[in-house]
Amino acid sequence: MDIVDSPAKMRTLAGTLRAKCGTLGLVPTMGALHEGHTSLIASAVSECASVVVSIFVNPAQFAPTEDLDTYPRTFELDLEVCRSRGVAAVYAPTPEAMYQDGFDTWIEVPSMSAGLCGLHRPGHFRGVVTIVAKLFNACKPDRAYFGEKDFQQFVLIRHMSEDLDFGVNVIACPIVREKDGLA
Ligand code: PAF
Repeated sequence: MDIVDSPAKMRTLAGTLRAKCGTLGLVPTMGALHEGHTSLIASAVSECASVVVSIFVNPAQFAPTEDLDTYPRTFELDLEVCRSRGVAAVYAPTPEAMYQDGFDTWIEVPSMSAGLCGLHRPGHFRGVVTIVAKLFNACKPDRAYFGEKDFQQFVLIRHMSEDLDFGVNVIACPIVREKDGLA
């Protein structure tokens, strides 16, 4: 399994994977992989010739009141999970590689971000949609997998991908629940 840490390396690797294997799937995550993620990975592995999992705790989607520093980080365990499930590559860019000095370009879907969660988390969806666009640009996936658990996020990402002609098939996977029903 390859592990790459910059958009340039990811673009090169994605080109190789697509040429060698065909359909490329992307599962975007912020790490700390759990059963919800493994079900996304399983769908991607079953439907695509090769799969990239991205692991990036995206500072731009955290509000100042939300704690970015205490977000769980379990990178080595995450790599094991990916390896054991047949993932071809993990894309784990550094914050500096994703947001270089002077970074100042953002993607918004204003009409759809305003309601529900967007109301209580200003800037959150702008951060999500922008980082997913950057992941799409680096990986150039044919298919990208998101959980239905974050339905508003999924709808915004699909809208952004269609508006900006990414040509990515944005797929929602069913919610995985624990025994007590927790999503
Ligand atoms: O759902 C998540 O884990 C994140 O919002 C995502 C889509 C990986 C973007 O950082």
